[in-house]
Amino acid sequence: MALLEGKKVTKAFGALKAVDEVDFEIPEGEILGLIGPNGAGKTTLVNLVTGTYPVSGGEVFFKGKPITGLKPARVSRLGIARTFQIVQPFPGMSVRENVVVGALFGKNGEARSTGEAFREADRWIDFVRLQEYRNASVDQINISFRKRMDLAKALAMNPEVLMLDEVMAGLNTKDIEEMIALVKRINQELKISLMVIEHVMKAVMSLCHRVTVLHHGAKIAEGSPQEVVKDPRVIEAYLGERYAKARKGPAT
Ligand SMILES: Nc1ncnc2c1ncn2[C@@H]1O[C@H](COP(=O)(O)OP(=O)(O)OP(=O)(O)O)[C@@H](O)[C@H]1O
Ligand SMILES: [Mg+2]
Repeated sequence: MALLEGKKVTKAFGALKAVDEVDFEIPEGEILGLIGPNGAGKTTLVNLVTGTYPVSGGEVFFKGKPITGLKPARVSRLGIARTFQIVQPFPGMSVRENVVVGALFGKNGEARSTGEAFREADRWIDFVRLQEYRNASVDQINISFRKRMDLAKALAMNPEVLMLDEVMAGLNTKDIEEMIALVKRINQELKISLMVIEHVMKAVMSLCHRVTVLHHGAKIAEGSPQEVVKDPRVIEAYLGERYAKARKGPAT
């Protein structure tokens, strides 16, 4: 049984089918990549799983039980966390204060005292190596640090499934390498299953056990990273010349 599973998950915004009858599954322990061109429906799929938007059709299951239609707060408590493509921290607050919100509203949050929540927040701030910026205002840190802070906040929710929405976007090569290593540790050491939405193909290739490809809301391919990058439909819809060239030159 998959830890997280979607069956014919659909979202219509008026006439637009942003997500169109998508089946997906994350077996326990796996990293599923979710790739596809801009506007393919990747972020919308995360919003459907986490209850940010109601589905227009289909069902989502966590450990075999339907979670379709649950509100985000309920979904978080079950053990499903996500990061945001555009990090939206609480302005004027410190890194630590932002991360503590995760420690209070995640899986084990209800039972925590404020002191325990701050200890939990500190644990994940250390894990993502943001300790120097613990008390810095979020308004003063750069995008790379904001992404790591958002990751720490999601980890403080003690998830079993973590959905990462472009955590590498806007990072330089060195920061991408560090983020890849962090995501590997999250999977291997913390035993967290992941969905990774990513345009950085190097990260997709080195992290993902399997990859699902979306295009205009629909799933057009699925398989190992090596299989999907050779799939003519994926090359035509997404990877194109950009990837063919990059594979001959230095990896990007
Ligand atoms: N709240 C909304 N209302 C109306 N249309 C929306 C809404 N959210 C997303 N869309 C549309 O749904 C489609 C899928 O958007 P989505 O953000 O899921 O794409 P994506 O695959 O995450 O793209 P990107 O790689 O650029 O992040 C797009 O056409 C987008 O304009
Ligand atoms: Mg997106």
